[in-house]
Amino acid sequence: MEKILIVDFGSQYTQLIARAVREVGVFSEIIPVLALQESTVEALKNQGVIGVVLSGGPSSVYENKNEALGRQVTRLVGEVPILGICFGYQLLVSLLGGEVKQGLVREYGPANVKVDAPKGPFRTFLPGETLRVWMSHGDVIASLPDGFQPFAHSEFVPFAASGNPMLHAYGVQFHPEVWHTKEGSKILESFLLDICNASRDWQTEQILELLSKDIQARTKGREILLALSGGVDSSVMGVLLKRMVGERLHSFLVDTGLLREGEPESTLKLLEPLGLNVHVVDAKDKFMEALEGISDPELKRKRIGGLFIDLLREEARNIGFPELLAQGTLYPDVIESMPVVGPSDTIKSHHNVGGLPKDMPFELLEPFRMLFKDEVRRIGEALGIPEEVVWKEPFPGPGLAVRILGPVDEASVKTVRKADAIVMEEVSRSGIGRSLWQAFAVLLPVKSVGVKGDKRSYENTVVLRAVESRDGMTAGVAKLPYELLERIAHRIVNEVEGVNRVAYDITSKPPATIEWE
Ligand code: XMP
Repeated sequence: MEKILIVDFGSQYTQLIARAVREVGVFSEIIPVLALQESTVEALKNQGVIGVVLSGGPSSVYENKNEALGRQVTRLVGEVPILGICFGYQLLVSLLGGEVKQGLVREYGPANVKVDAPKGPFRTFLPGETLRVWMSHGDVIASLPDGFQPFAHSEFVPFAASGNPMLHAYGVQFHPEVWHTKEGSKILESFLLDICNASRDWQTEQILELLSKDIQARTKGREILLALSGGVDSSVMGVLLKRMVGERLHSFLVDTGLLREGEPESTLKLLEPLGLNVHVVDAKDKFMEALEGISDPELKRKRIGGLFIDLLREEARNIGFPELLAQGTLYPDVIESMPVVGPSDTIKSHHNVGGLPKDMPFELLEPFRMLFKDEVRRIGEALGIPEEVVWKEPFPGPGLAVRILGPVDEASVKTVRKADAIVMEEVSRSGIGRSLWQAFAVLLPVKSVGVKGDKRSYENTVVLRAVESRDGMTAGVAKLPYELLERIAHRIVNEVEGVNRVAYDITSKPPATIEWE
């Protein structure tokens, strides 16, 4: 399969480049810059690489010169089409003899770029056309290498885009991959289709075919264990695996007692007609016991994770230790664990779970490890999985426990679950559900004074959280209609016992996270 290689220099936007390329229907793979040194140009071409994107990054080209890396990038020039973005553009230019220096101003944010020559990936624009773009740089290109032609400029950047058509080497100072760059997708599309001659073969049908081949090769005659969570990824994987391996798939779902209202029954009812028979492990009491008296968020997560592993082990033992354990790992998880930016802080332990204890006798089967969530959703649709499952909101593994600040007990679970059900019901009735990444309720151990039916009340607070996001890594606050907010608040204080106040969380991620714990 054809692919676009995205060489990551540590930009916060690298993942967006990969997604933007896939949206055009072309497979993209990110590799950390150091891994580039391990491959020859020939080997890359043999792997199907038809173009290379050099990402942005936090460094300056005149600091930390890595000559071996420079040689490797230079070797690619003229062999495969290249698009450098921001730092990647500066690196390309400086390696080919141009000059990069510190700019007069650092530019972070929106800017206007004027098209000088509609060439290379700018061929669809008109001379003199103004493009609204997103800049994020301190350095600028002061002179171009021989053979490079300027395509566009901005007030502070004389060579906002340029290229050498003979070498198929191009660069943009701004970020075409972020949505603030209004015509960014046109530039990327032109690079992919006109310059790399990509054939757009990354389509759901082809992805399914590749997945099937991969699964077939890995699972031959082997028994597979799958822990369903009721979420999109494991459900789609369950249905796909079931179709491919039949009775050799053993799916189970742990009822932690920390699931949303109506779960797990509603998911099971949707999945059963698709042939997935799921063994439900009722562990409600065990989870409640494990969480007794615990308020610390990390400890909650560790206890829940630990108990989950114990149950997995038990389940495995019951069916005679299958060789494979299927997991719904997605590409963003893989990208996050790449070493390019060095070991990151543990923000919440799930992000770094990295897995299972060493003594688990399983080989991991992660068929979706190269896919983004929207691709998994499209596969789900192609497999005929109902919309309610395919478009379900993400839900954290530790469930409602991380939406109850302070100790978790049956009463607090009941309260948050009821408030959450009202949020879900109203959001779904309003028809805006699909535009949201998540909407849910959080219970705070904070009491305030109110008045209910002429009587003083002194009760807890519920926080409403609704966010928009493409992948959960960053998120913006959803601007829910005011009437909807009022209706939710009104219903919660009237229908949920022990709650007399509702607040709306208006913090983005970062600096907050989506879940409160
Ligand atoms: P945060 O709170 O880190 O969450 O901004 C990002 C996304 O991940 C979900 N989330 C989890 N998913 N296991 C999961 O499978 C977990 O432990 C977990 N914790 C958070 C969260 O709902 C959001 O969509």
